[in-house]
Amino acid sequence: MEFPFDINQLFSERISILDQNLIASRQSKEKPDLRVKIATVLDELGKASAKAQDLPAPITSASKLQFQKHQLYLMKDGESSRGRGVVVGFLKVGYKKLFLLDRNGVHIEVEPLCVLDFYIAENLQRHGYGLELFNFMLQHQNVEPVLLAYDRPSTKLLAFLARHYNLRQSVPQVNNFVAFEDFFHKRAVSQ
Ligand code: ACO
Repeated sequence: MEFPFDINQLFSERISILDQNLIASRQSKEKPDLRVKIATVLDELGKASAKAQDLPAPITSASKLQFQKHQLYLMKDGESSRGRGVVVGFLKVGYKKLFLLDRNGVHIEVEPLCVLDFYIAENLQRHGYGLELFNFMLQHQNVEPVLLAYDRPSTKLLAFLARHYNLRQSVPQVNNFVAFEDFFHKRAVSQ
């Protein structure tokens, strides 16, 4: 995704981690114009993701990020657009208290890290960027894909998880979250 300003000025790293402060971790917090531009990027990404998933409204925006304890991993390609950079996509995660049904149909209360929103620009999908971004998040959070819960995963995300992490068998839930079979087993072991 291109923007009418220099993406490299906003995000110095190939993958930046944004949170409630909106400003990427290594940046100065004293530049209000940067905040406005970062907010524009987040709002546009949120809209594009909602459109790609057929959602009635974006679930990611600058204002939502400011009020929620989520972390957003934003990937850029710094060389494109005559050196001004383009935004490749983002992945948003956060902890949520959930009631999930285990393999025996018993409700258990858990608070796993959840994949909340994930989007790679249309023209860049299926080029491996999603995998790079997801793996970066896994390393940063020190977590395995099977220990995550997935909020209303799209068909493309389910295919992505099956393809890259062999996650195929999910345990039916009564909410919008998907947890895979080993979620319950591995959780019990790691506790
Ligand atoms: N149709 C089916 N599977 C797809 C598609 C597609 N159009 N695009 C990606 N995939 C899956 C496939 O398993 C594919 O492997 P294959 O090409 O061998 O079949 C694999 O993803 C490719 O991996 P990457 O290139 O690393 O993934 P990509 O960069 O495309 O990112 C993502 C994956 C984020 C799901 C991307 O396709 C996307 O943005 N889709 C639209 C938005 C979306 O559905 N996001 C998930 C929302 S649900 C949530 O966030 C909880």
